[in-house]
Amino acid sequence: MPDVLPPNRLPDGLLLDRPLPIPSRAPLLDVRGLKKAFGGMIAIQNVDLSIAEGSVHAIIGPNGAGKTTAFNCITAFVPPTAGRIFLGGERIDGLPAHVVARHGVARTYQNVRLFPNMTALENVLVGQHRRLHATFWEAILGSGRFRREEAEARARAMEYLAFVGIPQRAGDLARHMPYGDQRRLEIARALVAGPRILMLDEPAAGMNPAEGRALVELIERIRADLGVTVVLIEHHMRVVMAVAERITVFNRGAILTEGTPGEIQADERVIEAYLGRRSGQVAAAASPEPQRQMEAGIA
Ligand SMILES: Nc1ncnc2c1ncn2[C@@H]1O[C@H](COP(=O)(O)OP(=O)(O)O)[C@@H](O)[C@H]1O
Ligand SMILES: [Mg+2]
Repeated sequence: MPDVLPPNRLPDGLLLDRPLPIPSRAPLLDVRGLKKAFGGMIAIQNVDLSIAEGSVHAIIGPNGAGKTTAFNCITAFVPPTAGRIFLGGERIDGLPAHVVARHGVARTYQNVRLFPNMTALENVLVGQHRRLHATFWEAILGSGRFRREEAEARARAMEYLAFVGIPQRAGDLARHMPYGDQRRLEIARALVAGPRILMLDEPAAGMNPAEGRALVELIERIRADLGVTVVLIEHHMRVVMAVAERITVFNRGAILTEGTPGEIQADERVIEAYLGRRSGQVAAAASPEPQRQMEAGIA
């Protein structure tokens, strides 16, 4: 059996420029002892995370638990205070964000970050600048290489818009698109860079149940068809339980526990963390806010 499978042509003609990884239990992303302090406030500490290549891994936990901060450290959006981060065995902490991206880490944001006055197609084109090689002068002079790369970039952007299910939006301004489509567009922009790992920060936020089911289907295709490992922060338990192989639970800046969906669902501590109460106290004592975060399905 070879180490890598031959390049893959997807049913819709999308050609991967690298082989699909063989799913393995070796961690693609390995985080050791991660800590982030903002001034005197410790947002996360002692965070160990091991994300298996080819897996879908969910991170859950109440608001303020430090989930986004962990993403921000991994993607070099903020510098960690302590800890080590490895991608495919290579140390990536301390590298600038664009270099981490070049290593194959892509993400979306809890609050959608698109260029609102650009079209969907243009937003995806922005995501693949690292694939382009024509120089500034070749671009100015409209060289053959520049025109060829430009045409290829547009075709590739269209393929990814189709892949996430919004080809009909190509010419629409991002700010005119429904929220669910904006979230899909952000995923297309992240994928077009050809990442090894895609980190989604609350992708189902603001989605209705039907959109949530479509998101589950999209994440499964991202893993199976593109060979991209997926880590998602998510409050919608229906989405999490349907799509994740493993779940890590954050609470108060640390990892509370990790396990399979079945193990996490059965773990009393997880429910307590969300409801903000100790065993034995009545559920009525919990504020409605964390209950809303649960979004049904686990309790
Ligand atoms: N840039 C920042 N500056 C100061 N405090 C921050 C910053 N980012 C996050 N925090 C704080 O870190 C804690 C964890 O936040 P966050 O990682 O966003 O949690 P989660 O994503 O789990 O809801 C919160 O108390 C938050 O206010
Ligand atoms: Mg967050």
